[in-house]
Amino acid sequence: RRIALLCGGASGEREVSLLSAAAVEEALEKRYEVIKIDTGVEGWAHTLLDSSVEGVFICLHGGAGENGSIQGFCESVGLPYTGPGVLSSAIAMDKFVAKLLVESFRIPTPGYIRVLRGEECNIEDIRTKLGGKLVVKPSTEGSALGVSIVDNGDDLACAIDTALELAPSVLVEQFISGRELTVAVLGGEKPRVLPPIEIIPANEFYDYEAKYEQDMAQHICPANLTEAELRQCEEMALGAHDALGCYGVSRTDCILDERNRLWYLETNTIPGMTGTSLLPDAAKAVGITFDELCWNIMEDAWS
Ligand code: DAL
Ligand code: MG
Repeated sequence: RRIALLCGGASGEREVSLLSAAAVEEALEKRYEVIKIDTGVEGWAHTLLDSSVEGVFICLHGGAGENGSIQGFCESVGLPYTGPGVLSSAIAMDKFVAKLLVESFRIPTPGYIRVLRGEECNIEDIRTKLGGKLVVKPSTEGSALGVSIVDNGDDLACAIDTALELAPSVLVEQFISGRELTVAVLGGEKPRVLPPIEIIPANEFYDYEAKYEQDMAQHICPANLTEAELRQCEEMALGAHDALGCYGVSRTDCILDERNRLWYLETNTIPGMTGTSLLPDAAKAVGITFDELCWNIMEDAWS
């Protein structure tokens, strides 16, 4: 079958997408005729429409490729595509809205507030409400772009301004100290949870450099967890996957604190597929090769 592989794009994660797509293309080419299209290049939509493909593998991270916009385009022109639909993509791409939603399903998440661009924001109020160490994130970015960790003496206003440069909405969240875990869910109609991975970054946190530079983070897969902790991870990943209406694949990031409580941070609906990415490692741990992972994701688009 002939398929399109959408990659690149114009988001802050363009380079990550190109890395993911290079690996995904190699896998897909073993099974399909692949037309690779960079959505960062003018006229990409015409190229897609003219290519007579039967399906679209969306290998885009952040921006239009992950927030429902391109999903909506595929939907409108009747092209089956990988991953979740418009609403799920849009909700998951906005960390604030995703937290609101998962919280309503009783999934615990660190305390948070949202600051909108142009809105009056009282730094003292935020400090009082959330207290202690904080994490400031652009609500709609990925790969930890624009993220700062702000301690008591640090400049919170400056961290918010930095994040606001990348997105019109910023999430200020309580910092939870603990083990950083990520849990992937795979499959269309009948999703299965893959083994959790513990991430041990060389930097203060799992920032952009730690994510994509070789040897800047250790992945422990499967993570060394007790039965009860493992169950908590599975429940959270599947709970978030269902709450958000994810499809095909998702990867939920969470923190296990010192008192064995698990906290939800976010769900990625188009997880990275680069050489240092997490989902391929989790799949490998249960005997799913990278090729099979890509084929499964593609086939789910048609089921
Ligand atoms: N946003 C990046 C690609 C990830 O979650 O893997
Ligand atoms: Mg993310």
